[in-house]
This record gives sequence, structure tokens and C-alpha cells, in this order.
Amino acid sequence: MSIVEEVAPSASPVPETGERVLRVNDLVVEFPRPDRSGFRAVNGVDIELRRGETLGIVGESGSGKTMIALSLLGIVPLPGKIIEGTISLRGRRIDNLPPREIRKVRGNDIGIVFQDPMTGLNPVRTVGSQLMESALRHNNLSRREAEERAFKALDDVGIPAARERLKAYPHELSGGLRQRVMIALALINHPSVIVADEPTTALDATIQAQILDLFRLRLARSTMILITHDLGVAAEICDRIAVMYAGRIVETGTIEDVLSNPRHPYTVGLLAAVPKFDVRRPKLVPIPGQPPTADDVVRGCAFSPRCSFATPECEERPLLEDRGGRPVACWHPRGSGV
Ligand SMILES: Nc1ncnc2c1ncn2[C@@H]1O[C@H](COP(=O)(O)OP(=O)(O)OP(=O)(O)O)[C@@H](O)[C@H]1O
Ligand SMILES: [Mg+2]
Repeated sequence: MSIVEEVAPSASPVPETGERVLRVNDLVVEFPRPDRSGFRAVNGVDIELRRGETLGIVGESGSGKTMIALSLLGIVPLPGKIIEGTISLRGRRIDNLPPREIRKVRGNDIGIVFQDPMTGLNPVRTVGSQLMESALRHNNLSRREAEERAFKALDDVGIPAARERLKAYPHELSGGLRQRVMIALALINHPSVIVADEPTTALDATIQAQILDLFRLRLARSTMILITHDLGVAAEICDRIAVMYAGRIVETGTIEDVLSNPRHPYTVGLLAAVPKFDVRRPKLVPIPGQPPTADDVVRGCAFSPRCSFATPECEERPLLEDRGGRPVACWHPRGSGV
């Protein structure tokens, strides 16, 4: 059986009742500031992921997307720290595990794909040895079995001449092949969840399309969190989407609902700024103004300084709660059904 099929055993479309694989509850990641209270890069985020579902996380640079991914993997960079909240994987808390235990989760229960494959691959070791090491570390395999699994992992992600490629060093491969190797490494131990942080952003357009095809066709039924700047990528791959602004989720729903009927003015702005001739591949285009920086003190709705619908009410922070059938954190949601 191929790795991809093993990772994706459930039927499509995603059943609402699918087993809950991942639950993030009120996550807060803080960086200390010398003068006053810490800067919250992630500020009270809830995520629920069910088996076979792909959740997209989108939002401007600095909104906290990567910090969520790093929190799941237990590698928030110091001096940053998870100061509140819980993360549970298949019912087991993983946010408070000792380093030895979280290492067992990383690369085994949770597979990671980073934006730049060179961050995830060791440049001085062959592709095969890195794949085999991961397979051996987390499974009771002979070297021969591990090599076979490494070969299969490369073959499954569409790497031609996979047997020979096991002997290659990362720098000997093209950017596209390197990203495939990263994906093979993420999948080799059949993880419960794949976390992909901007997996196509560093690639040129043609390669990007090929890697997208890999995600769309072969990983379609995986349980995955996909972080992306590209709403088109999210539209092609994700079942649900969470829009982030300044460390918080401001709107969430099925990809169809959010893209066809955005409610938060920030989401409306993101979509409105997309050129109409290219609606199928909308990229996030900056909205006038800047998101708050680590030095700003945010009161109320963090988006209100940039929002044309803001009123004095927005000085009080809107919670992410059901507004017309879908969670939106806004006092003045747009669109129909509110
Ligand atoms: N080492 C650090 N010290 C202080 N602040 C940090 C550190 N690393 C990240 N941050 C801050 O945390 C916030 C969230 O960063 P994060 O990398 O999660 O953003 P992102 O949404 O992934 O952005 P991008 O789209 O650019 O990847 C940012 O405002 C960033 O400045
Ligand atoms: Mg990031």
C-alpha cells in the first residue's frame, strides 16, 4: 500500500462526524517585552481538525500562522513561549510533554513541510539516509526495511528514479524535487496530521503547480493544516479556512462559504483586492495600512484602525462567535445572512 493511501484512509468528502484528530484550545504564544506585558504573537486561537480534513490558515505576514505551526511541533523559538492553552493530538495533550516525548511526536505523529526545503533537510547527508533515519527512529525496522520504505516514500511523491535519488544530496536536486523529498520525509511515518507552512511559496510558478497537484491529488484526504498566503492554493486544497489577523482567528468556515461570502471586513478586503481576471488564483494583496507590530498596544478590534466600518463599539474586542451561521469576530460583519 502506498504511503499516501495509508495516510489518507477515510472517504471524501469529509464527514462532519469524522474522528477529531487535533484540538487546539485557547492557544497563546507570547514573546517577552522588556518594558511591559509580553507581545502575543498568537492570542487565543482555537482549532479543531477532524480526520481527512484540510484546514487552511491564511493571513498577512506576521499574523501568527507559523507560530501556530511551531506550537504544534513544540518548537516555538525562544524567548517565545506558549503561556496559555492546550494542544491535544488524538486525545493526548502534547503541549506539556518533555522534550524527549515531543521529539517522538514530531516527524512521527505530526509530519512537517516547511516553505524552504533546505530548512528541513540536512545539506551534508544524503536524502536516503535522512529518510531512513526518520523511519528507523520511530519504527522497529531493519536497515533494509527502512531503505525500502525510504524508496517507497520518494516514489509515492512522484520522484522519478527514486532508487538512485536515495543517494543524492539535497543540493544535487532541483527545488521542486527537494520539496518533494520534504513531503516524503513528512509522510514516511504515516503521521496523523501533516502541517505544511507555505509549501509552495519558495517555488517558481511551474514547480508550484506540480507541487500543488501533488497536494491536491495525492494528499487530498490527508488530515492537514496548510498555511498559505495564496487564497487560490487554499481554494484548491482546503475544506475549511481560518483567516488570521494579529494573532487571532477573525473568521472561519468552509472554503466555499468564506470565499463566496466573506463576512469579516479584513477578509472582504483581502478578496476585494484580488484582480478580477485572476479570480481562481487570488493572492493576498495588502490592504491599506499596517497590521499592529510588536510595539503597538492593541485595544479592542485589532483591525479597526484599517477598517472603513469601524465605530466606537470596536474599541471593545469582538469575540469569534456565530454570526449568521459562521464564526466571525466583528461587530459589523458584512455579507449575506447576518
Ligand atoms: N523570535 C521572535 N521574537 C519576537 N517576535 C517574534 C519572533 N519570531 C516571530 N515573532 C513575531 O511573531 C509574530 C508572528 O510571526 P509568524 O512568523 O507566526 O507570522 P506569519 O503569519 O507566519 O508570517 P509570514 O506570513 O511572514 O510567514 C510576528 O509579529 C513576529 O514579528
Ligand atoms: Mg510564516
